[in-house]
Amino acid sequence: MVMEKSRMPCFTARQQVGFALPCDPTGGGIIVSFENKVCVITGAAQGIGEVYSKAAADRGAAVVVADIDVENGQRVANEIINDGGHAIFAKTDVSSPESCEAMAAAAKDAFGGIDYLINNAAIYGDMEMLPLLEVPIDYYNRFMSVNMNGCLFVTRAVYPSMAERGGGAIVNQSSTAAWSCSGFYGIAKLGVHGITINLARELGPRNIRVNAVVPGPIDTEATRKVIPSEMVQGILRAMPLSRMGKPEDLVGTCLFLLSDEASWVTGQTWAVDGGMAMRP
Ligand SMILES: NC(=O)c1ccc[n+]([C@@H]2O[C@H](COP(=O)([O-])OP(=O)(O)OC[C@H]3O[C@@H](n4cnc5c(N)ncnc54)[C@H](O)[C@@H]3O)[C@@H](O)[C@H]2O)c1
Repeated sequence: MVMEKSRMPCFTARQQVGFALPCDPTGGGIIVSFENKVCVITGAAQGIGEVYSKAAADRGAAVVVADIDVENGQRVANEIINDGGHAIFAKTDVSSPESCEAMAAAAKDAFGGIDYLINNAAIYGDMEMLPLLEVPIDYYNRFMSVNMNGCLFVTRAVYPSMAERGGGAIVNQSSTAAWSCSGFYGIAKLGVHGITINLARELGPRNIRVNAVVPGPIDTEATRKVIPSEMVQGILRAMPLSRMGKPEDLVGTCLFLLSDEASWVTGQTWAVDGGMAMRP
């Protein structure tokens, strides 16, 4: 099912002395092949999810772009196809179990099954910044149903297909906000950590691994709405690597955790944050 893309392996100096593996010509590290893999990515219509989708497609995966945003979701899928990859767009509201089931069925129809899932969707750029004691309950419930429950609902919809294929891997997108006092946004991500370790235990016997990536501040359009520019310098001072992350900084860890290179890694929350939240 997966269309072959022409790739130009590059060879490092280390390769000439016998140690090197094929590396990404763009400097992105070792290439993990996702040929013949089907990868569902939620929240893939823009920002980090778009970059994950294109990175997975570049490595050979057939990608299911799952998002509530039809226009941009379709655009991302089209761009992957125009670039020689395989993709479909599936309109999905991750807070609706029925919508998640329909997306999983569309993925199976298009590509025959599912191997990988990245639970990345969230209400983020346009979120209300309100204290816990004041946030309207309806808003709070909607927020948690997308940002926390969504990763459970999508997993419940796709894991049977992974199990049918002998196993799979899931990466849940968290945030260092889970470890700071960040209101209901951070609480939802803490819930994602809880879901990650519990599902790692429940799905381990089916050979499905579940991990979380925990990014620090990443420079996306959504972040520019959430973090005013005058706050950025203060944040950077707390970071050993002294710069905002780019979505591309997350790709290596996320795809590694999905891949067979991480075949004995499950139930982990893995910070990718420029050293912002170093914990002993
Ligand atoms: N950007 C950062 O600094 C940062 C840092 C840590 C973690 N994160 C996390 O990374 C993820 C992506 O962040 P981003 O900056 O790309 O944000 P973004 O707002 O650009 O992307 C979120 C995507 O989720 C989609 N979405 C929203 N509600 C949905 C729903 N109900 N069903 C399906 N899709 C839905 C949106 O349409 C959008 O495409 C989020 O989970 C966010 O919490 C971001």
